[in-house]
Amino acid sequence: MLPSRVAPRSADAEVAGALDAVIRRATARDLPWLVDLGARAFAALGDYSDILPAWLAQDNVSAWVADHDGERRGFTVVGIFVGDTIAPEGPPVDENVADLLALAVEPAWQSRGLGRRLLGHAVGMASASARTARLRELRLCVADDNFIGQRLYRTSGFERVVGDFGAYPGGQRAVRMVFPLAPAPMPAPALAGATTR
Ligand SMILES: CC(C)(COP(=O)(O)OP(=O)(O)OC[C@H]1O[C@@H](n2cnc3c(N)ncnc32)[C@H](O)[C@@H]1OP(=O)(O)O)[C@@H](O)C(=O)NCCC(=O)NCCS
Repeated sequence: MLPSRVAPRSADAEVAGALDAVIRRATARDLPWLVDLGARAFAALGDYSDILPAWLAQDNVSAWVADHDGERRGFTVVGIFVGDTIAPEGPPVDENVADLLALAVEPAWQSRGLGRRLLGHAVGMASASARTARLRELRLCVADDNFIGQRLYRTSGFERVVGDFGAYPGGQRAVRMVFPLAPAPMPAPALAGATTR
């Protein structure tokens, strides 16, 4: 995946020079910063200084960093997991889901469009690999009291899922939101007498 340039969102932000950033794959050298920002950003939810390294140790989890002027400004963490769709009758459907596990922007660099662009990058990557990775959706959980996050996701095309998705260690209820991706093609049924042309 090529790095994507972060385009200016408003005249004010452009004047501030805040949005000339590149989104790139995180490396091992980014991990101390990433865990530090995550621990600060999600402190009210629980101890992410343990949770983030555990996620990032998994082969199916990747992290992406927004760089500006050689400085790290924000990140996403995305995992690919086996889907949990169960067909009404028959075996589980062979589909996977992409899970946006974390999104955070350094407090001093928030409200300049970086969060939306990082989210757009995650959506773009999931969409691009939906068919080959058999991804049904990009999903996430956000705290019920995080109205800025919920608004960002809603205005980026995510829909809230009705249901009980548990609670964070900090006590907030988890709100599940999903961005539907192209459905994975199902194997064609063998039809007696079917012809092709
Ligand atoms: C949520 C977060 C990633 C947004 O990053 P950001 O760079 O500030 O977001 P953007 O500048 O791209 O703004 C995206 C949207 O967030 C909302 N928003 C951003 N700053 C806001 C503020 N100060 N007040 C109210 N809404 C705000 C707006 O809806 C905005 O969209 P709009 O300006 O087009 O209406 C950032 O606030 C953050 O890191 N928060 C802590 C961690 C977190 O809550 N992560 C998400 C849940 S996992």
